[in-house]
Amino acid sequence: MILFKELTYKNFLSTGNNPIIIDLNKSRSTLIVGTNGTGKSTILDAISFALFNKPHRNVKRGGLVNSVNGKACEVTIEFETAGHNWKVLRGIKPNKFEVYQDGNMIDQQTNVRDYQKFLEQNILKLNHKSFHQIVVLGSSSFIPFMQLKAWDRRDVIEDLLDIGVFSKMKTVLKQRNNIQKDLAKSSRISLDNQKDKIEYQKKHISQLENINKSAKMDFEEDIINAQNEMDSLKSKLDKYPLGLRGTLNSLRKVREGLQTEKGKHTHSMKELVSKAKFFEVNTACPTCTQEISENVKNSMLTDVRAQAQQTQKDIELNNIKYDETIETLEKVQDQISDMANINSQMSTQTDIMAKLANKQVKEVDIDAPAKELVDMTYDLIDIQDNLTEAEDQILYNNIASEMLKDTGIRTKIIKEYLPVMNNLINKYLQTLEFFVAFHLNENFEESIKSRHRDEFVYANFSEGEKMRIDLSLLFAWRQVAKMKNSTNTNLLILDETFDSSLDDEGTDNLMKILKTLEKGTNTFIISHKPDVLESKMEQKIQFVKKNNFSAIS
Ligand SMILES: Nc1ncnc2c1ncn2[C@@H]1O[C@H](COP(=O)(O)OP(=O)(O)OP(=O)(O)O)[C@@H](O)[C@H]1O
Ligand SMILES: [Mg+2]
Repeated sequence: MILFKELTYKNFLSTGNNPIIIDLNKSRSTLIVGTNGTGKSTILDAISFALFNKPHRNVKRGGLVNSVNGKACEVTIEFETAGHNWKVLRGIKPNKFEVYQDGNMIDQQTNVRDYQKFLEQNILKLNHKSFHQIVVLGSSSFIPFMQLKAWDRRDVIEDLLDIGVFSKMKTVLKQRNNIQKDLAKSSRISLDNQKDKIEYQKKHISQLENINKSAKMDFEEDIINAQNEMDSLKSKLDKYPLGLRGTLNSLRKVREGLQTEKGKHTHSMKELVSKAKFFEVNTACPTCTQEISENVKNSMLTDVRAQAQQTQKDIELNNIKYDETIETLEKVQDQISDMANINSQMSTQTDIMAKLANKQVKEVDIDAPAKELVDMTYDLIDIQDNLTEAEDQILYNNIASEMLKDTGIRTKIIKEYLPVMNNLINKYLQTLEFFVAFHLNENFEESIKSRHRDEFVYANFSEGEKMRIDLSLLFAWRQVAKMKNSTNTNLLILDETFDSSLDDEGTDNLMKILKTLEKGTNTFIISHKPDVLESKMEQKIQFVKKNNFSAIS
């Protein structure tokens, strides 16, 4: 509930530097009179300008400054709402826009537009359009509800029912959804990149594993080769007979015996040769000079020759044995040298095997890349989570948006209130003795059935009948606002509502309704018919024009 208290303005339209002060909460009913152009309707402009920065009439900002004196134009309105006293001051030349809460100016850190938004959404909880639908009726620039476009009708009703918040939520949801969509898009790109990275890392690790595997295989092959070589050397060694050294020594002894034998035979041969020569040369003994008979000589020579033949045979036999022994000896020596060679190879092989036993396979590090892979997988899960969250959020937002659509929650609420609204409108229509069945549907289209005629729309009716419908809607909206405690105010201004369109009966009926309005309502009636209304109103304000400036007399 907004309780308007006081309106002050100077140098505004036809008002001069002497401020006009109107107590908005002084009496239940005030009649405002004055001839044409004395500044009566200016009250509406002043209120509208102070609250919404828009005059009621279609005049540009600059056109609001009093053209006679051109002095600083200022409008102030004071009101009470949500347990606080508020004052809004607006000026032109110089421009001013100040909001005071309980005497203290609210910091105007943001720009004027946001400050205005703050005033409408947080303090007044009412926009320009809705304010006029529940506060003002009549005046040249007033657009009755029934002449508003469907979208504007919806705005007014949503404000009345306090569900305008859903429209705002829808906008917020849309903005959030755009952010989430961007998030999901970048998450999808990150996800693909991460998957590629993981694939690459897996390949890298598998290459490293192959390197290690072949290093191990090479090592094992080296061990097997060394073992095989050792085995083949051993089997070579096994082929040689045992005791070759003993055989060598025995053969050497045999060779020495044969050499000795050969010496002996040579010596015997020499002696036999000299013995034969002796008997061939000598006919007597050189020592005893005794003659050697021919018989003895022949017998001795035969004997010597026989011995020489035998010795020659022995020499030849001995030579054969010697050659054979030497041959065998050389063979055995060769074998021994071969064995020594094999033994040396085996010793080398033993060294190789010992080295292999101590050797460790050189493996490349797989632990670090494997750890990296695990980290990458965790990152992938995080990215996937982010994507899922964004997608969930988009889904929720879409569901919420669906619900907030015109066909969603808002329509549901409006549908619930529509019968109440229609009832109230019809009740006021009856009070104004206009007996029609008025019906507003959920698209805010009206159908009006008269008792005798067919179905009509607003445009079908006469000005007086239209006025009755406008009045009924105004009072119905005020009732709904009161019920919802949303855009309820104490102020009601009727600008020349009575003057042209309403007949006497209509005027009487309207007065009846005004009497039924709740106690705190302050009704201002601007009229050119003071004689009809004066007796019925609590106070009267008379506007006049003095020295070209509007004033209250
Ligand atoms: N910038 C301005 N400077 C001075 N006077 C202005 C300016 N703009 C409009 N006016 C005049 O202000 C006067 C007040 O108009 P307003 O609509 O309040 O009169 P009114 O009392 O409601 O008259 P009516 O009975 O004809 O509706 C008009 O005469 C108008 O010409
Ligand atoms: Mg007027």
